[in-house]
Amino acid sequence: MSVGEVLDALASPDNAVRRAVELLQAGEVVALPTETVYGLAGDAGNVQAVAKIFAAKNRPHFDPLIVHVKDRAQAEQVAILEDDVAERLLEAFWPGPLTVLLPKRDSIPELVTSGSLLVAVRSPSHPVFRAVLEALNRPLAAPSANPFGRISPTTAEHVRQGLGDKIALILDGGPCRHGLESTIVYPLNGELHLLRKGPVTQEELEAFGPVKVTSAAGKKAAPGQLTSHYAPGKPLFLVDGPGRVRDRRQAGYLAWKEKPAGFAASEVLSASGDTVEAAANLFAALHRLDAAPVERIYAEKIPGTGLGAAIQDRLTRAAAGR
Ligand code: TXA
Ligand code: MG
Repeated sequence: MSVGEVLDALASPDNAVRRAVELLQAGEVVALPTETVYGLAGDAGNVQAVAKIFAAKNRPHFDPLIVHVKDRAQAEQVAILEDDVAERLLEAFWPGPLTVLLPKRDSIPELVTSGSLLVAVRSPSHPVFRAVLEALNRPLAAPSANPFGRISPTTAEHVRQGLGDKIALILDGGPCRHGLESTIVYPLNGELHLLRKGPVTQEELEAFGPVKVTSAAGKKAAPGQLTSHYAPGKPLFLVDGPGRVRDRRQAGYLAWKEKPAGFAASEVLSASGDTVEAAANLFAALHRLDAAPVERIYAEKIPGTGLGAAIQDRLTRAAAGR
């Protein structure tokens, strides 16, 4: 197996899935497309495979991994499902971009959960990821397939640039539909603790009980929710608009709807102001600005409810510390 091989899983799915499954069965890690972002997958029950995920990403061991399952039955093999609200959430949003924290079973090594007795579980809807889960018939631990602390990948090419020399295989399943990591929720005593905003919005979750937004930083329930996350290599600053930015020749600009004049590079998330389109474009736009010949990036704040709030959350993290 050559290093960093990319297989087109849309053109020849059978071959791509077979190669991925062979490697996963051998305890290797493989990058796979999901509907949110690309994931770096390994057998969730194989400690060596899980250790390889942390190593490839250079991820600290206190940051736990999401376990991906085929369906509710496979979720039962990794977690205890006896919470009414959790059951209803799975029913409503799986397969899809919702991750639920549940009490873990012994089949999941503590390395996966960083010692927590809760495991984060989700059932992805991307057909390529599902085909791998189906053929392998094992749950897969998979964080986003980016070096730790950097922007999540929404194309196979992003994965190749970030981790290509560290992993054997990348399945290319096209650009990710949502473009933002899954929503993470912890149902407890009838309440829903929202640990990460994402494609399933806070407003949608409110139909299932009162939602408490858990501030990202410093909370034990989500040790990996570090404030400075999803960051480009260049310093990023949040602005209300381009108006007050002076030296534009050395700067990149991430606009919500309208392209401003004079910047060395600029990106528009959605000319029509559509948050679904903006979310799908967000990380690719940040990757391009990061690669552009600019010294810093200015990003426009995004209107704050629904998916807009999830996008704004990622921008705030990318700007953290600036
Ligand atoms: O959309 C997604 O969720 C993507 C795709 C690949 O599925 N995965 C993803 O994984 O974003 P990752 O590792 O980049 O982010 C998962 C977050 C981490 O910040 C981690 O702290 C939190 O989920 N998490 C995972 N397991 C947890 C646990 N047992 N308790 C609390 N937080 C957990
Ligand atoms: Mg990540």
